[in-house]
Amino acid sequence: MQIITTIAELRARLVNEQSVAFVPTMGNLHEGHLNLMRLSREHGSCIVASIFVNPLQFGPSEDFDKYPRTLEADCAKLQGLADVVFVPSVNEMYPEQQTIFVEPPLIANELCGATRPGHFRGMATVVLKLLNIVQPHVALFGKKDYQQLHIIRQMVAQMNLPIHIVGGETVRAADGLALSSRNQYLSKIQRSQATFLYQTLQRLRDAIVQGERNFEQMQSQAVLALSTEGWVVDYVSIRNQSDLLSAKQSQCKLVVLAAAKLGGVRLLDNIDVNLK
Ligand code: PAF
Repeated sequence: MQIITTIAELRARLVNEQSVAFVPTMGNLHEGHLNLMRLSREHGSCIVASIFVNPLQFGPSEDFDKYPRTLEADCAKLQGLADVVFVPSVNEMYPEQQTIFVEPPLIANELCGATRPGHFRGMATVVLKLLNIVQPHVALFGKKDYQQLHIIRQMVAQMNLPIHIVGGETVRAADGLALSSRNQYLSKIQRSQATFLYQTLQRLRDAIVQGERNFEQMQSQAVLALSTEGWVVDYVSIRNQSDLLSAKQSQCKLVVLAAAKLGGVRLLDNIDVNLK
């Protein structure tokens, strides 16, 4: 496995590769990332991972400085899974002030975007840069960040990038909590409470499957249930899978999404509901 820090070196390394599969990450790798790495083998003969904590997608009061940087441990985990790990510095990615941005679609102002203004613009901008640098045939992203995956799919389609985007299933702990780099911020007691977010989504999914259709009321009840258990809820929302707009009663491919803070730690999860 080669660790490469410059764009020039990376391009030289990949120039003759016939099929590159790419997994962009911000490091602090967990089983969710490693699962994507394993999946990437089905999609390419040369596997590239990137580790870059992108300042552009963090708001001024967010955890950019605090975001766990664990390069050595990450590289150890990638041994045998990646052929190349791209680890650029901030200066390599942004040698001059970035003044050109990807303007994400309006849906980027909803759900996670409502409380993280500019997040998806910064995310889409770095993903476009990374895709241009690596020029993979396939790029893989986790479905846990459902809205991110949706925006990336739209960007790749509308910008005519010749890249196939693959979504990897969310990997969960035994109690159902979706794996996330931010889980480690949870205290022991918060960690035991954290599964309630997934349980809330499961309850909503079961209710929809059983025929409940008063989505507004279901969402409010879920917010209330979480708040009562001490969560500060950003949103619980039942949406249509294909456009992420609020679900209509007649639609049958739905997704229930939630983001909420437990003791200041922001957790994110979603669950698909496929009717018929
Ligand atoms: O999901 C992430 O880790 C990041 O948003 C990504 C896609 C690597 C872009 O910085």
